[in-house]
Amino acid sequence: MTHTATPFPDGFLWGASTAGHQIEGNNVNSDWWRREHDPAAKIEVPSLDACDSYHRWEQDMDLLAELGFTDYRFGIEWARIEPERGFFSRAEIAHYRRMVDGALARGLRPMVTLHHFTVPRWFEDLGGWTADGAVQAFTRYVEACAPIIADGVRHVCTINEPNVIAILAAGARTGDQPWPTAGGTVTPDEETTHALIAAHRAAVGAVRTVNSEIKVGWTVANQVYQALSGAEDATVAYTHPREDVFIEAARGDDFIGVQSYTRTRIGPDGPVPAPADAERTLTGWEYYPAAVGHALRHTADVIGDGTPLIVTENGIATADDTRRIDYYAAALDQVAAAIEDGIDVQGYLAWSALDNYEWGTYKSTFGLIAVDPSTFERTAKPSAVWLGGLGRTRELPRTAS
Ligand code: FCB
Repeated sequence: MTHTATPFPDGFLWGASTAGHQIEGNNVNSDWWRREHDPAAKIEVPSLDACDSYHRWEQDMDLLAELGFTDYRFGIEWARIEPERGFFSRAEIAHYRRMVDGALARGLRPMVTLHHFTVPRWFEDLGGWTADGAVQAFTRYVEACAPIIADGVRHVCTINEPNVIAILAAGARTGDQPWPTAGGTVTPDEETTHALIAAHRAAVGAVRTVNSEIKVGWTVANQVYQALSGAEDATVAYTHPREDVFIEAARGDDFIGVQSYTRTRIGPDGPVPAPADAERTLTGWEYYPAAVGHALRHTADVIGDGTPLIVTENGIATADDTRRIDYYAAALDQVAAAIEDGIDVQGYLAWSALDNYEWGTYKSTFGLIAVDPSTFERTAKPSAVWLGGLGRTRELPRTAS
């Protein structure tokens, strides 16, 4: 076995990702906060202070920049910016603008997510994405974000994992609240799918009006559906509404965000559980670092028009940081192979910068950086030092046999 390296393509993004609700704390005007305190929702634990990044974002950025990362993806919270319908908070807009300036001052290029699962309570009360006026409400919010993104922001993600949102919406209609991880059987709600695509298209237009230099796209959850023998047609039928429809909707965007963690094998009757002896991570997902390579190739095939790809999330929930390094090393090998095969991959952002609130639990530790839950003290793990360090060599490690 020989060890080589693949140089980063020019301008390659090298970073870590977070989402507002998962790290900021006290996002009290959001639908998620309300759900977290509703016993009927059966959410294990509420987010409460999360990582207190609303106040400690400077420490987060200091650490990421010191580690060697050059890019930082973070979310801005609609529920803070528009706490009541039509009322836009100048103070919150200024807060997020300070974050953009703070990133730039540290040599971190900010990638800003406008919507990452959470909406204001008033938006949910109106009926959510399928209500009359929902797309217009989202577009007005995006327009109100102009002062945050107008200068210095190179990448904007409109909506994170619309396919997951549409699956959650379908679950909510049937009283079921599945987290659509590997092996889910709930089909995305079609009406929500259409509304999200319309919202995305409108948001892309709004962002381009703010500054035509901004690269804008959305980020799609890739479950790496793999057909077992004889289940090829079943796999296409299963994959299309859950993934491909959202990839196709990204045609004409400046990039598409690729997010993957594990795989899902499909048999003639649907998803098949991972073998009993498969290694599983803290989320219960099969340890399968090759996922990102499959996700990149599948996305490139489906979109078919050469739209650039950026890995906007990829990582592992584990308490064993050595295994995290193994995961990233194997995943980066796949990213390098995709680049060598001519796929236009323009960046890699790990999930996640911090051990954070994973939608109901703090136990699924995806972080490169540990956070003490009582003091909020941050400690970079060895994986953070290793991964960040590649930002200095600007080479992807490659294990060629
Ligand atoms: C993705 C989400 C992200 C995080 C990871 C583990 O589905 O975008 O917020 O929870 O999974």
